[in-house]
Amino acid sequence: MKRIAVLTSGGDSPGMNPAIRSITRTGLNKGLEILGIRNGYQGLLDDEFMELNAENVSGRIRDAGTFLQTSRCADFITEEGQRRALEVLAKHRVDALIVIGGDGSLKGARALHRFGLRVMGLPGTIDNDIFGTDMGIGVDTALNTIISLVDMIRATAASHRRCFVVEVMGRRSGYLALMSTISTGSQVAVIPEFRMNIDSIIGRLHHRFSARHNNSVIIVAEGVCQGSEFMERLLANGKVKQEVRLTVLGHIQRGGTPTHYDRLLASRMGEMAVLALISGESGSMVSTVNGRTQLRDFDEILDRRKALPGDAIRLARNIGIEIGDVVEP
Ligand code: ADP
Ligand code: F6P
Repeated sequence: MKRIAVLTSGGDSPGMNPAIRSITRTGLNKGLEILGIRNGYQGLLDDEFMELNAENVSGRIRDAGTFLQTSRCADFITEEGQRRALEVLAKHRVDALIVIGGDGSLKGARALHRFGLRVMGLPGTIDNDIFGTDMGIGVDTALNTIISLVDMIRATAASHRRCFVVEVMGRRSGYLALMSTISTGSQVAVIPEFRMNIDSIIGRLHHRFSARHNNSVIIVAEGVCQGSEFMERLLANGKVKQEVRLTVLGHIQRGGTPTHYDRLLASRMGEMAVLALISGESGSMVSTVNGRTQLRDFDEILDRRKALPGDAIRLARNIGIEIGDVVEP
């Protein structure tokens, strides 16, 4: 194997740059050539290749986003698109591809693997919704960004005796909402894994208000509904007497400077992806399980729904966070 290409796909996540840097530096150290593909699968189809070297990855460990850029690409989902992608890779004499992205991007990587290409995947998404890895690259940074912002919101909430509804990301997963509710000392997490109980939420607000805790924060995962929709439900019957305001954190959550955890995770995963390809592995995602970096077969992890960590659910309940009712399977 002589030449590896790398691309980032789907929503960007802080730590993609450190991963690209680690892949490049490990590959160069092992005598390989490393190519970057700009703009995800779209850039692959559009033939947007560049050489990666020690100079152009230098300093990238500190940068959020992905300097290779990323995209969502409908054409690549078709078999025709994938065959075209393979032709472009063959033209550039690429022996193996590393894809950094979320669940959808890794399905794309699996499709290329099924055509016989040597492929490795890295979990790059802030949502932490990829089965088979405890953490994805960028999750820790996103949580730290959310914590800083919610701490600021708490200051103004306390000054005005208000309740704030904060909408956070998480397309299908309540991971960011649950974890940030715990670590910001917020009162309610509205998450897709549980059924929200609006009466319990209102009861919690009343209880706090009457106990002189006259401010509250409710964190809503976008995967349940938009924050504005939740506000309507909360205020619908006029039972909430407190002033309520809404803040939608939005894409700020993806733009934080990678934390130590994400820099290290991305560096370790990038290194393992290259070493695994050299030793003949293919068709796997690099994951972290109980602190150990390891490979998981795409077929074992894709198409499966990642559950929220049971210990976090228990902790939330034990410290009095309202998370809703259990949904029977
Ligand atoms: P993420 O990777 O963050 O989950 P998406 O689900 O939008 O983001 O996927 C990113 C891109 O990966 C898509 O635009 C598409 O090009 C590719 N992709 C997604 N799902 C598949 C699939 N089932 N088969 C092949 N490619 C896919
Ligand atoms: O999957 C990562 C994510 O940030 C989700 O949390 C969010 O729903 C989505 O991407 C937003 O995508 P876009 O950047 O296309 O608006």
